[in-house]
Amino acid sequence: MTATPRLEISHIAKSFGGQKVVDDVSLSVMPGQVTCLLGPSGCGKSTTLRMIAGVESPDAGQIHVDGQLICGDGRDVPPESRSIGLMFQDFALFPHLSVAQNVAFGLKLDRRAARARVEELLGKVGMGRHIDRFPHELSGGEQQRVALARALAPRPKVMLMDEPFSGLDDRLRDDIRDETLDVLKAEGTAVLLVTHEPGEAMRMADEIALMRDGRIVQRGAPYNIYNTPVDRKAAAFFSDINVIRGEVRGALTDTPFGQFLAPGVPDGTAVDICIRPQHLKIDFDRAGRGPNPTPMEGTPARGVVQRARFMGSESLVEFRMDYDGTILRAQIPSVFLPKPGTPLWIMIRRDRCFVFPAAA
Ligand SMILES: Nc1ncnc2c1ncn2[C@@H]1O[C@H](COP(=O)(O)OP(=O)(O)O)[C@@H](O)[C@H]1O
Ligand SMILES: [Mg+2]
Repeated sequence: MTATPRLEISHIAKSFGGQKVVDDVSLSVMPGQVTCLLGPSGCGKSTTLRMIAGVESPDAGQIHVDGQLICGDGRDVPPESRSIGLMFQDFALFPHLSVAQNVAFGLKLDRRAARARVEELLGKVGMGRHIDRFPHELSGGEQQRVALARALAPRPKVMLMDEPFSGLDDRLRDDIRDETLDVLKAEGTAVLLVTHEPGEAMRMADEIALMRDGRIVQRGAPYNIYNTPVDRKAAAFFSDINVIRGEVRGALTDTPFGQFLAPGVPDGTAVDICIRPQHLKIDFDRAGRGPNPTPMEGTPARGVVQRARFMGSESLVEFRMDYDGTILRAQIPSVFLPKPGTPLWIMIRRDRCFVFPAAA
C-alpha cells in the first residue's frame, strides 16, 4: 500500500488576462516532508500557493489534502476549512495582541487547552519567556518565530510558506531556517515552501520542484537537481556556469579540453558542455607547458587571468582562454589569488560536466 500524500495537486492551471501563469502543475508532499517550489521571480510560484490556500481559483485541476478533494471538479472548500497554515514574508502579527494572544488567535479550543498549546509551541520556537510581550517589543527574528507558532497552533495538515525568510538578515536567517525546519519536522506537517533562492531550497528541501514560466521543469532531491540538471537553464539557476561549445562527431565532441562523450546526440549537433566554477582546476604554467592530460581531467587548456577576487573561503578567478578568447570562471581555494595577466592552465572535471544540445 502506498501512503497518501498530505498535499496533492494535479494538473492545476491559471491564466490572467489570457496569459498562462500556472501551466499544468502537479506535485505532492508527504507528511513531515518539505518540498520547495523554486524558480525565478514571476514564474508562478505565489499563484500556485494562493490556489492551494484557496484565495485564488484554478482554471483547471484538482487539489487534495489527505486524500480529500478540496478544490476541483466543482468543489471549492473555503480557505479556513482546508487545514492549511500560511506563512508569508510580511507575516504581520496583530500589534495590539500579546504574543500569547497572537498564537491563540485561530484556536478553537477552551481556554485551558488553548493556553497549553500556546505554551507548547512558544517553547518549541524558543519564545516561551516572551509570552506576554507585544510584537513591537520583539526583534524581526523573534516576530518570525511567533508567526511560525501562530501558523502551527491549529495543527494544520499542510503549511504553505511564501519566501518566509526574505525579510531577515543573512546570519539570523540561517539560524531561523534551521530552527523552523526542526519545528515543522517535529509537528509532522507537510510543507510547501516557495523561494527564488537555490541556497534556501537546498538547505530546506527534501524535494525541489524547479519551476519556469508556469511549469515544473524538474523535480528531485537537492543533490539530484544540482548534479543532474535537465537543461542548461536548470544548471545555471544554481550557480554560475561555464560553457564550452562543441560539435558532435560519432558520439564524441572535440573541445580544447579533449573529447567528451555525447551518447545519442546526432552528428553535426552543436552541444554546450556546461561546468560549474568549482569543478575547474588550475595549474601553473611552466615556460608555456602545463600538466599532462589525465582520464579524469582530460587535456589542460591555457588561459590568462583577467580578474581574481578573494571571497573568504574561496577565490573567484576569471580567465580569457588562449584557444578562442572564451571567458571561463573558476572557484578555487582562497590560498591562491593569482594576479591579472598570469597565464595558468585549466582542467575540467569530466565527471562534473553536463552535455546539452546548444541553446539557440
Ligand atoms: N491577480 C493577478 N492578476 C494579474 N496578473 C497576476 C496576478 N497575480 C499574479 N499575476 C502575474 O502572474 C505572474 C506570476 O506571478 P507570481 O505567481 O506572483 O510569481 P512568483 O511568485 O513566482 O514571483 C506574474 O507575471 C504576475 O504579474
Ligand atoms: Mg511570489
